Amino acid sequence: MTMKILPVHLVFLLTFLAGVFSLRHTAVHIKAGEMVALLCPHHKGSNDAELIWTSHTAQETLLISSISSAEQRQMGLLVHGRNLVILGASVNHQGKYSCSQGNASSEFMLTVYTEQSREYEEQTTYSTTCFTQEYCMLNCPDVNIPDVNTPNMTTNDIMWHKKGESFPIDGYFSSVEKNNHGIYTCTRSYLYDQQSYNRTFAVILDVKPKIIQKSPTINSPLQDDVFHVDLGSPAVISCIAVAFSDSDSLHWLSGNSMLKKNESLTVFYNETRENIDGEIHITASLVIKMVTEEDLSKHYTCKLDSDDTPSSVIITLAQKARPSYISLAVGSVCIIVVMLLTTAVYVKFKIHITLFLRDALGCLSSASDGQSYDAFLMCYKSDTDGLSEDDRECLKSVLEERFGYNLCLYDRDILPGKAVAEAVLDCIEQSRAVVLVPTSLDPGLGSGLLSVIHSALVEKKTRLVFIKTESTEVSKSGSVPEALQLLSEAGNCVTWKGKRSLMPSSSFFWNKLRYHLPAPQHVPKIRLLTQTV
Ligand SMILES: *[C@@H]1O[C@H](CO)[C@@H](O)[C@H](O)[C@H]1NC(C)=O
Ligand SMILES: *[C@@H]1O[C@H](CO)[C@@H](O)[C@H](O)[C@H]1NC(C)=O
Ligand SMILES: *[C@@H]1O[C@H](CO)[C@@H](O)[C@H](O)[C@H]1NC(C)=O
Ligand SMILES: *[C@@H]1O[C@H](CO)[C@@H](O)[C@H](O)[C@H]1NC(C)=O
Ligand SMILES: *[C@@H]1O[C@H](CO)[C@@H](O)[C@H](O)[C@H]1NC(C)=O
Repeated sequence: MTMKILPVHLVFLLTFLAGVFSLRHTAVHIKAGEMVALLCPHHKGSNDAELIWTSHTAQETLLISSISSAEQRQMGLLVHGRNLVILGASVNHQGKYSCSQGNASSEFMLTVYTEQSREYEEQTTYSTTCFTQEYCMLNCPDVNIPDVNTPNMTTNDIMWHKKGESFPIDGYFSSVEKNNHGIYTCTRSYLYDQQSYNRTFAVILDVKPKIIQKSPTINSPLQDDVFHVDLGSPAVISCIAVAFSDSDSLHWLSGNSMLKKNESLTVFYNETRENIDGEIHITASLVIKMVTEEDLSKHYTCKLDSDDTPSSVIITLAQKARPSYISLAVGSVCIIVVMLLTTAVYVKFKIHITLFLRDALGCLSSASDGQSYDAFLMCYKSDTDGLSEDDRECLKSVLEERFGYNLCLYDRDILPGKAVAEAVLDCIEQSRAVVLVPTSLDPGLGSGLLSVIHSALVEKKTRLVFIKTESTEVSKSGSVPEALQLLSEAGNCVTWKGKRSLMPSSSFFWNKLRYHLPAPQHVPKIRLLTQTV
């Protein structure tokens, strides 16, 4: 929507000799009885100086600023800030007005019309252009109107009338039609000193035809758009316009060249006209029989040729996205990433997770299997450093006291008098797991006995936890007897890193050991203790 002032407001810029001061001369036209305000423009460098208004009418030359406000009021004048307001203009007010400040000044030529005249209308008519079926707002000009902050002056709402109609209307159209075209008047109304004053303007509304729709529509039908098409498939794009005359036509261009209506061409358009309530709706359909790569690089323009303003929309083609493949790929990648993360987390924390579940759910294997012991603690001779007497005592007490394991100990729980091999096998028989503990002292298990233990474990599928020293790891073969080698391979290994492994803070050693052992069948004593407190 544009507003332009039909009459060029005559502005003269006169530069006097030697540029002593510049003079602006503005023509102001007003109907008798109306209110008009003259605004003195700001002059550079003279803002501190006093502003002086003078009038030169047919009757007299008056220094307005020198008379009292009561006298000004009697003459229908009001000075506020940089404004000189002429409340109800009469022929007597007609003349030249000037405001001066320092060495700068501006001039106004005020013409007062007592009756409707062609000249007055020409000078005070403004215009607004809107397009069919669009929202359209009429703008009431704000030329030579008083400042809203003028003391004791009330500004009322703007009233709109269509010329020739007496009832007021709204100043806008939600969807403007051709028949809304015409001359409108807007009245700005002011109340001052119990007296009402008006300032009216005429506004010509010009309604122009416009392409109203494209099909398939995407976002806004009236904006230039990108249409998504399939390569190798046909595409039809329609453009609809409301025309005002039969001579208006709608057509399609490819680049700058006009397309033809010849249906035997690979790219053409066809046109239909329909009369809807006195309006001519023209539909032009662009038909591309098979979209090629080349078509994607071109601009297509739907153009309305009308007596008034031509209007057009530009369309570019783009290949349809393949959201299904993309989202499928993204989805798959996400699932894989999640699976990898889950696996990584499980591998990293499986010991913690298992022990946590075991502790949280009580015993995972709570069903009694008839065994008397959770584990059989058995020593073997390690070539390098092993657990001392104290270390073994510590290991035993933590497993029993803190974690609640019921242990079978060779030198404590085996009835004396039995042969060593028989006693060891008895212990294995009654235990759910066997823990082999390295010691520096030879416990007296010959390699023959180790082989017997190995076959017993394999036969009974008893769990074996092989605690090995750090050096056992390094010198895997050679110094370690073959029977021990077999046992270490058959069982789950937990590495003993010296005394620090037994510290309660060394959760790594304990967690790993507990992870490989079955859950204890009895409630840990530590829990019983806390429950009785
Ligand atoms: C007006 O007067 C001021 C000083 O009073 C001077 O600086 C300025 O240049 C003058 N302006 C013109 C347009 O002569
Ligand atoms: C506004 O009106 C009040 C009361 O009528 C009056 O006293 C006051 O002087 C007026 N102000 C101006 C700036 O005219
Ligand atoms: C001002 O305009 C309104 C609305 O058009 C009208 O009713 C009223 O009589 C006018 N007043 C004067 C003083 O012209
Ligand atoms: C339509 O195009 C075809 C092929 O280019 C041509 O042979 C034919 O003469 C054209 N028809 C008209 C009516 O222009
Ligand atoms: C214009 O061409 C399109 C595509 O071939 C077709 O669907 C439509 O009906 C045609 N319109 C007229 C008026 O021939």
